Amino acid sequence: MPAMTTTPEHSPLELHRLLANMIRTGRVEHVRVGASGNPAACRVRTGDLLTTWVPWFAQAAGGSAQTRHWRTPALGEPCLLLAPGGDLAQAVALPGIYSSDMPQGATDEDVERHDFSATDFWQHRRSAGTLVFDISQAITLNVGSSQLHITPGSTTLTTPQFTVESPQSSFTGNVRIGGGLSVIGAGSSGGTSRIQGNFQIEGASLTHNGINISGTHTHPDAHGGTTGGPQ
Ligand SMILES: [Fe+2]
Repeated sequence: MPAMTTTPEHSPLELHRLLANMIRTGRVEHVRVGASGNPAACRVRTGDLLTTWVPWFAQAAGGSAQTRHWRTPALGEPCLLLAPGGDLAQAVALPGIYSSDMPQGATDEDVERHDFSATDFWQHRRSAGTLVFDISQAITLNVGSSQLHITPGSTTLTTPQFTVESPQSSFTGNVRIGGGLSVIGAGSSGGTSRIQGNFQIEGASLTHNGINISGTHTHPDAHGGTTGGPQ
C-alpha cells in the first residue's frame, strides 16, 4: 500500500480554508463603474479580508442588444461573496441583503416597492390595485419625437397630434389657444357653444353665415343708401 502523501494544497487546513471561502458575507467597500472593455466591479470587505475587484450580480447582463440592468451597489451594502472553488479572486458579489443600518423601504406585505433615494420611489399596493410613482424633480417619457415631461411646476406634452377621446372634458382654469379654434358642434353637447361672462373679439373680420357683423358693418337706410357703422 503506497504511503499517503499530503501536499500543501490538499492539507485539511487548506481544504477548510477553501470551503470557508466558497460562500462568505461582507460589505461593499469600493465600487468601480467601469468602461468599455473594463466591466464594473467592486471590492468587498469580508472579515479581515478585502477582495480584489470582483463583479457584482446585476440581475441582467445580456449586452447592448438585450436586457441589462445597471445599479451600483451602495458603499457599505451587505452582500454574499460566491467564490468558485473557494478562490476569492474569482468571486462574484451578490448585494442586496437588508441590515439594521440599511433596512428595507417598507414594512407592509401588501406592497411591492422600489426606492431610488430618500425621496423617490415607486410602490404597488396589491390589495388596492394601485401603482404610485413619487419622483421629486421630473419624469420624462420619450417615444420617438413625442415627449411627456412632468415637473413640480409644469407638465408639457410634445407630440405631432394630441387627441382626447372623452364625452366630457373640463379645464378648471384659464385656457390660452395659440392656434385657431374649430368647434364642430356635434355629439352629446347639442352643438351649441355658450360663453358666460365678458367676451372681447379683436381682429378685422367677424361674420355670420358670410355677412359682416363686425365693427365696420352697415345697414341699408330708408333712403336706399347705407347707414354708418356701429358706435
Ligand atoms: Fe348692426
